[in-house]
Amino acid sequence: MKINTAEFVISNTKLSLCPEADRAEYAFIGRSNVGKSSLINYITNHKKLAKTSQTPGKTQLINHFMINETFYFVDLPGYGYAKTSKKNRGKWQEFIAEYILHRETLLNLFVLIDSRLPAQEIDLDFMEWLGEKGIPFSIVFTKTDKLTSSKLNKNLLAYKKEMLKYWEEMPISFSTSSTGKTGKEAILNYIGSINEGYFKK
Ligand code: GTP
Ligand code: MG
Repeated sequence: MKINTAEFVISNTKLSLCPEADRAEYAFIGRSNVGKSSLINYITNHKKLAKTSQTPGKTQLINHFMINETFYFVDLPGYGYAKTSKKNRGKWQEFIAEYILHRETLLNLFVLIDSRLPAQEIDLDFMEWLGEKGIPFSIVFTKTDKLTSSKLNKNLLAYKKEMLKYWEEMPISFSTSSTGKTGKEAILNYIGSINEGYFKK
């Protein structure tokens, strides 16, 4: 699949104010600073579609982008950011949970994981929660340009091993570098195949 057009639609903190749920939708989530907004820019070939920053906590709202005038990408705030209020620290905020649990057209959530780090409890907890709630998700390992390929493979194997303590199978996963511009084709093909099933209905 190719992305020809990508346009910002609306930002908000309320599910009820999101655009009408009338088309396929894919959202990106993960710890603050993991590279969600950068990945959206890389995948859509836009430098500044989603706002990025070196400082964690940049994306604070639910941001909808219209892709190819057919489906939505959604950039979500990160979780686990130390400077947010104590109540939210280490937890995904309520409005994000509301969005994930009740957005009927959310076909897949891409959970971004920093490929450099060992499995973090907050990400494992988050994916466990998704599993309990029956939310379809896949994993995107980010910032692979910061590792040699042998270290990357080692980390990916270790991550899989950790996941298999909780899951029967490793969820579908992708490896990307937004800086190095690698890995988007597999993600786009995956989205294309889900879209095909959705729009056939
Ligand atoms: P929040 O909105 O704060 O939750 O962060 P985010 O997950 O949207 O991260 P963002 O895309 O803003 O990127 C955070 C930082 O990581 C920025 O300084 C990016 O330039 C950097 N970054 C993102 N992706 C990559 C990557 O693939 N490689 C490298 N080296 N840096 C990256
Ligand atoms: Mg962001």
